[in-house]
Amino acid sequence: MVTVNTIQVDPALINSSCAWSSSLQQLLELYESPYTGAITTRTATQDGFPENDIHTVVFHAGMTTTLNSYGYSPHPLSQYLVWVEDILKTHPSNKKPVIISITASEPLTLALMIQAVQDLRKRLRDDVNSTSQIAVELNTSCPNIPKAAPSGYLIKSLKPLIQSLADAHAADPTLTIGLKLPPYVYKDQFTEVVEVLQSLDVEARTSGSGRCPISFLTCTNTLGNSLLFAEETTSSATDGFALPTDTGGLAGQSLHPLALGNVYTFKELLTSSADDYPGLKGVKIIGVGGVTDKAALRRMQNAGADVVGCATLFGKEGVQAFEMLSRE
Ligand SMILES: Cc1cc2nc3c(=O)[nH]c(=O)nc-3n(C[C@H](O)[C@H](O)[C@H](O)COP(=O)(O)O)c2cc1C
Repeated sequence: MVTVNTIQVDPALINSSCAWSSSLQQLLELYESPYTGAITTRTATQDGFPENDIHTVVFHAGMTTTLNSYGYSPHPLSQYLVWVEDILKTHPSNKKPVIISITASEPLTLALMIQAVQDLRKRLRDDVNSTSQIAVELNTSCPNIPKAAPSGYLIKSLKPLIQSLADAHAADPTLTIGLKLPPYVYKDQFTEVVEVLQSLDVEARTSGSGRCPISFLTCTNTLGNSLLFAEETTSSATDGFALPTDTGGLAGQSLHPLALGNVYTFKELLTSSADDYPGLKGVKIIGVGGVTDKAALRRMQNAGADVVGCATLFGKEGVQAFEMLSRE
């Protein structure tokens, strides 16, 4: 069991946010699996994302690799809140948490979204129970949104959003908040993120409101601007590019070494910061990227992941993916 601020993840295996955790039916199946220790919703925006035929996913024919052109969920946050309430109320003996993935480009919108999550938590007494069952993950890293670079690559644009999260956490430290980060490729990108966490930790301790408001980092999202040809995929088409958008976000086995490197580097930086910034000791890492079998899961843990997540394997195998990862 892994404790992340106020939520407990047991077993430490989850689905990461994806197109297959989009509907109530999909979320229920994930929630009822004994092999998931928490579930993550698909990323919701305040009003829902206008999805159409260009938004899709393809599977590589020779590896457990995907390329996708999805944006965010067509269902708005309000719909996920109704579903989450329904799931928790109909499973009163199940203490499994739900991580609600959200995104916004404006701090004010994000604050309103967090307020809506908090209203639900209050209604369910999730803010006063000894452990919580609702956490939020800010997706900073979808590579498929035209004219909107992932905020995780632009730390300056991320800061006001994180401040909005920090304000919510200061008002209610029982709110468990994480960041879904993009795959980084050079050291300064990692140190910039950790410096933001360090300053949040100092602020939180100086104001007496507690510890670093960010309790977990989910590393990583897909690698944007990747390209597969139709001939490489399981699709019946043999001509041209595999995706209608030509390029998209790469995941699965092809992403695995980079995801391991991201988890490893964040773990190292957080551990070496912990003496000066004690609040960072508690920041957990959810390792995601190319976890397609038990050996890959172990590698993710050995690289430093406290909790392991997957999307591509889940998309390929359905909910039995988590049983496959759990058995020797
Ligand atoms: C089809 C598909 C849709 C995804 N949608 C989201 C999303 O809505 N929000 C998000 O944070 N990540 C999303 N992801 C990224 C996954 O959560 C994960 O970070 C990435 O796929 C790497 O993990 P994997 O190798 O196990 O697939 C999506 C991935 C796939 C394959």
